[in-house]
Amino acid sequence: MRVLIIGSGGREHAFAHAIRQSDRLSALFVAPGNAGILQLADSAPVDVADHSAVGHFCEAERIDLVIVGPEAPLVDGLADSLRARGVAVLGPSQAAAELEGSKAFVKQLAFANDVPTADSQTHDQVDTALAALDDFALPVVVKADGLAAGKGVIIAETKAQAEDAVRACFDGAFGAAGSRVVIEEFLSGEEISCFALCDGTDYRWLGSAQDHKRVGEGDTGPNTGGMGAYTPAPCLTPTLEAQVRRDIIEPSLRAMVNAGTPFQGILFAGIMLTQSGPKLLEYNVRFGDPEAQVILPRLGARALDLFHAAATGGLGALDADVVLDDRHALTVVMATTGYPGSYAKGSEITLPAETDPQVIIFHAGTQHSDNRLLANGGRVLTVTGLGTSLIEARDRAYQAVDSIQWSEGFFRRDIGWRALTPNTD
Ligand code: AMP
Ligand code: GLY
Repeated sequence: MRVLIIGSGGREHAFAHAIRQSDRLSALFVAPGNAGILQLADSAPVDVADHSAVGHFCEAERIDLVIVGPEAPLVDGLADSLRARGVAVLGPSQAAAELEGSKAFVKQLAFANDVPTADSQTHDQVDTALAALDDFALPVVVKADGLAAGKGVIIAETKAQAEDAVRACFDGAFGAAGSRVVIEEFLSGEEISCFALCDGTDYRWLGSAQDHKRVGEGDTGPNTGGMGAYTPAPCLTPTLEAQVRRDIIEPSLRAMVNAGTPFQGILFAGIMLTQSGPKLLEYNVRFGDPEAQVILPRLGARALDLFHAAATGGLGALDADVVLDDRHALTVVMATTGYPGSYAKGSEITLPAETDPQVIIFHAGTQHSDNRLLANGGRVLTVTGLGTSLIEARDRAYQAVDSIQWSEGFFRRDIGWRALTPNTD
């Protein structure tokens, strides 16, 4: 099978690493990739935003499967353009990508299909949005409707903060994403990430993870794309998993089929485990980053066949369920000093010559220059350890992190703390 991966982060490195293990892979390309992915894949010299160039490349290279890592090309309709040319794609249509592209869309879908979620209201006028704040207790959550690179969610502790957040959205703080605002009830509990591989009608459960979104230890400071993650999520008991599948994932997928916009790709459900059961926080229409870097190593060589089956509507013909291997995995993100604010590019990194076979160093933002490995982004490496327990996985990951020389890098020392010190909430 000839495969093209779209993207340049740690998640896409994890895709490449997993599908490289399949005997059925005959060629692997990436656009644009990074220094780590380019050790496993050839560079596809196309601009991802130019859909017809990507399509021509797929035809010229007889690509059997395109895996789209990030959400932006999906919301932009890349999967539709490729499918129109007969290319199989792991990633939803533009219409189905609304599950991530519009928070208002998801709320409507959830309310119409009895999917448990936080109470909310959607407003497209500043005055009605401000007035609606009176209907919610504090803290209250204010969200820009559209894609805002993970920054469009404000948890307001006071009425004044909530009003400022509403005004900031309508004043363009999040660009066009904020021209509609979702005001939402604040939920508390453990937050988990759940993944479903979907072929339009069938789906297979791809496991659960928890990530650490805040930059600082103890889950403090500004939000980031994610500073670390671990799988499985220990708080997701089999009973809760069955509830998430039956009450959240399955009715949502059925609703997409009924709307004529079936979801094909990886559905990522952000779930809050509240006192009154699991509730949907959000959908993403792609794998999580860094969640992919812990789940995909547990899927390994089976990933390619499963992804191809999902992209071609063939999951029903495969095994009844996907069983991830029973190892725990934990990943630590190494970022450039300054992230998630401004940071410098180009600092040099030296990786250890050898690592434990139960460790994988994924590249998230790197490039090679004259045989030197340079940091080229905010999140730069994600270092995954695997083990028979979460502690073993964590210790392996940190041992590898400590063997990496990078003066401009930083990381959190406490990834996994919630799972390893229970009952601290
Ligand atoms: P979202 O992009 O909607 O997932 O929001 C980003 C983050 O904000 C989530 O991962 C949660 O940590 C937090 N969040 C979003 N909605 C809520 C809510 N209703 N209650 C509490 N936290 C929330
Ligand atoms: N780790 C969260 C995300 O990928 O959105």
